[in-house]
Amino acid sequence: MARIAICPGSFDPITNGHEDIIHRAADLFDKVIVVVSANPDKHPIFSLDERVSLIQTVCEGMDNVEVDKFSGLLIDYVKKKDAVAIVKGLRAVSDFDYEFQMALTNRRMMPDFETVFLTPSSDNMYLSSSVVRQIAQFGGDIRPFVPTAIVDKVVNRMREKF
Ligand code: PNS
Repeated sequence: MARIAICPGSFDPITNGHEDIIHRAADLFDKVIVVVSANPDKHPIFSLDERVSLIQTVCEGMDNVEVDKFSGLLIDYVKKKDAVAIVKGLRAVSDFDYEFQMALTNRRMMPDFETVFLTPSSDNMYLSSSVVRQIAQFGGDIRPFVPTAIVDKVVNRMREKF
């Protein structure tokens, strides 16, 4: 049976750090589903479908990676897909509390639930979508931080917005 991992997140937008983690997950599992969360608490710059499309562009050529979207509880999505784990990137210590809270809460709701934490390369250690948005908003160069294929889309969206 194929061992499926779910890579959930907001991906607003996908960064080099996300791409790094997706690559690592794809090496470890038979299939990886990158899934964009429709989090009602957030006001993303890209719509759910736009974020799915950006990730599809970045993951083109990764044969065992699919991209999807979801709303609701992550554990329900995990059950629906019969996944064995979710994969999250753990960057600096600052991620730890938040990620642990989510991992342990999810496990309380679904006892056989596993969260696998992967570490990105040191270049991507302090990277986040919010930092990328801020740099783009003020006209900085985001090329070191996001996959080349989506740089123009992010720059143009930030120009439209601000
Ligand atoms: O990119 P992010 O913001 O770290 O992603 C967070 C995400 C989407 C993984 C998290 O908000 C989530 O799982 N949302 C779905 C709702 C849910 O299941 N909440 C309970 C988790 S404790």
